[in-house]
Amino acid sequence: MTCSKAPGKIVLFGEHFVVKGAPAIGFAVSKYAKVCVEDGSLNIISKQTGRVEQDSLLYRAVKRLITKVNSIFECSEDVKILIDSEIPIGSGMGSSAALSVALAHAYLTHCNVDFDKKLVNEIAYEAEKEVHSKPSGIDNTLATFGGFLKYRSGVFEKLEVRLGEEVYFLVVNTNLRRQTGKIVEEVLKLYEKYPEILENVYNAASALVEKALKSLEERDYESIGRLMLLNHGLLWTIGVSHEVNDLIVHKLVAKGCLGAKLSGAGKGGIVIGLVKESLVDKIEGELRNEGFEVFRVTPDYEGVRNV
Ligand code: MEV
Repeated sequence: MTCSKAPGKIVLFGEHFVVKGAPAIGFAVSKYAKVCVEDGSLNIISKQTGRVEQDSLLYRAVKRLITKVNSIFECSEDVKILIDSEIPIGSGMGSSAALSVALAHAYLTHCNVDFDKKLVNEIAYEAEKEVHSKPSGIDNTLATFGGFLKYRSGVFEKLEVRLGEEVYFLVVNTNLRRQTGKIVEEVLKLYEKYPEILENVYNAASALVEKALKSLEERDYESIGRLMLLNHGLLWTIGVSHEVNDLIVHKLVAKGCLGAKLSGAGKGGIVIGLVKESLVDKIEGELRNEGFEVFRVTPDYEGVRNV
């Protein structure tokens, strides 16, 4: 049996603005999808949800991935696939991409062929196209290579950012599900209605990302936190926040986080907070006691690997 794991991701700055050509920053996080492959008749079993049905999106994505590999190498398609993921589904943390990348890596290892991470990324992107109609490719790229990426208009740039062990990101899941496509459309409509105002907001978002790059390089955590709050304010301005997102942002800051913001599409989804190591236990515990689904993550710098 061969097993691989790949990290989920978080958008740190620039979501939504990126859709109209502004830059954004994302990073891979220490929550993983693990996939094992062994000989057997084609069968997909998830530890979380049980046997995957043949008419499901996931089954079709797996088939597409296996077919793609077999268009390059000859490898048995009779495999049993076991999935075990700790990444929340549908929360904007790249759960499907992490799964595709881990599967591509585990299957290629099982096939005993020569491959590199670039190929893993390309093959996983094929499965992502089955799950999301127009994926940007950021999720699978982060799951494959790990670390921090700047992306703009389809171009990815790996960032030489390495945060220290003195900070954590807290992730609070609102458990409010939303449709990313619909929210993106609403934002674009708002832009059409008030272009002379929105243009300035988008320019502010671009300037914010440039400043954030410098703060990340310098590990200036106070500045990163402040920029997260500014980014949340801009996201509120374009209408993608929700009272639950705002409540959690305020709570995180009141409890001592350096900054907080919604992350991803918004209107629910997840909120992230940046917190010093000395406060992480306290804030995480308090939020859990208040009934929130909360967990901590650190950046993953390695990307997909065998386990
Ligand atoms: C969603 O994670 C990020 C958005 O910017 C949409 C996108 O970039 O495709 C809201």
